[in-house]
Amino acid sequence: MRVLIFGFGKVGKELRNLIHEKRKEVPELKDVEIVATVTRKGISYGDREGFVADEPFDLDKLEKVKPDVVVDTSSANYETGEPSVSLYYRAFELGASVVTTNKAPLALKFGEIMERAKKHGVKVGFQGTVMSGTPSVNLLRVLPGVRVRKLRGILNGTTNYILTRVSEGATFLEALNEAKAKGYAEEDPTLDLNGFDAAAKIVILHNFAFGKNMTIRDVKFSGIQNLKEDEVKNAMAKGMKPKLVAYAEEGRVEVSLKYLTREDPLYYVDEVENALSVETEVQTVTIRGPGAGPRQAAYGALADLILMKRGLI
Ligand code: HSE
Repeated sequence: MRVLIFGFGKVGKELRNLIHEKRKEVPELKDVEIVATVTRKGISYGDREGFVADEPFDLDKLEKVKPDVVVDTSSANYETGEPSVSLYYRAFELGASVVTTNKAPLALKFGEIMERAKKHGVKVGFQGTVMSGTPSVNLLRVLPGVRVRKLRGILNGTTNYILTRVSEGATFLEALNEAKAKGYAEEDPTLDLNGFDAAAKIVILHNFAFGKNMTIRDVKFSGIQNLKEDEVKNAMAKGMKPKLVAYAEEGRVEVSLKYLTREDPLYYVDEVENALSVETEVQTVTIRGPGAGPRQAAYGALADLILMKRGLI
């Protein structure tokens, strides 16, 4: 499997590390070869630890590289989804599948991307876009045949980390700086704080679960940017915890701060952990695990590569 990695920041580098580590023990990864890496600086051919631009990159270079899979670890552009969207479409035309940890293209153009992939008979793996390596998209893949009624979750690691640390006595700013240092926050952390990142993720899950094509622009969301430290302390004193909750039912998606009681499974999800409850007509399944961090996001992409090899995506 010839892999082109698009974006070589923390996630891209961790993906390379994971491929190298896991290739020895996972049969599906034995023939996975990184054939090129592309960043804003250009294209680097082959599999190298550090990035060295061999040439400027343009989409015609894809024909020369002939990837089987393009893995997009670049950061989100919520204006247009570019340059990722054009890269995906060219990759699809050339018969390559896409694995992405970049939320923007799918939060803006989910239906169009899926349709084009289908037309060309290729696949799109996007576990790394929601809850990083903790199965959310891929949890839905292993719940076949049931009708999803509701999705409810904590989908942003940065805000959950801040809410936890503030409840332990840290100031909002201290907690935010810790979340940045740990690599949880977006390049622009405003997107975490104002609920936008969680909204992008619940839109992706909503569209996948219900076969719809909502965009981030259709979502009502609010965040924690105006949260007062006292508010958190008061809630804790009453046995409640503030959590940024993302919710979806067919055709309706929202993100807002809620005060949860001990009866709610999401109450127990702290620090960088995320969680997702999927309610169907048969069961409610709740999953929790780390929701951010470069290695976690990279694992989301690695899992997709393995599942593609197994024919499960
Ligand atoms: N900034 C995101 C978060 C990264 O904190 O959840 C993972 O998508």
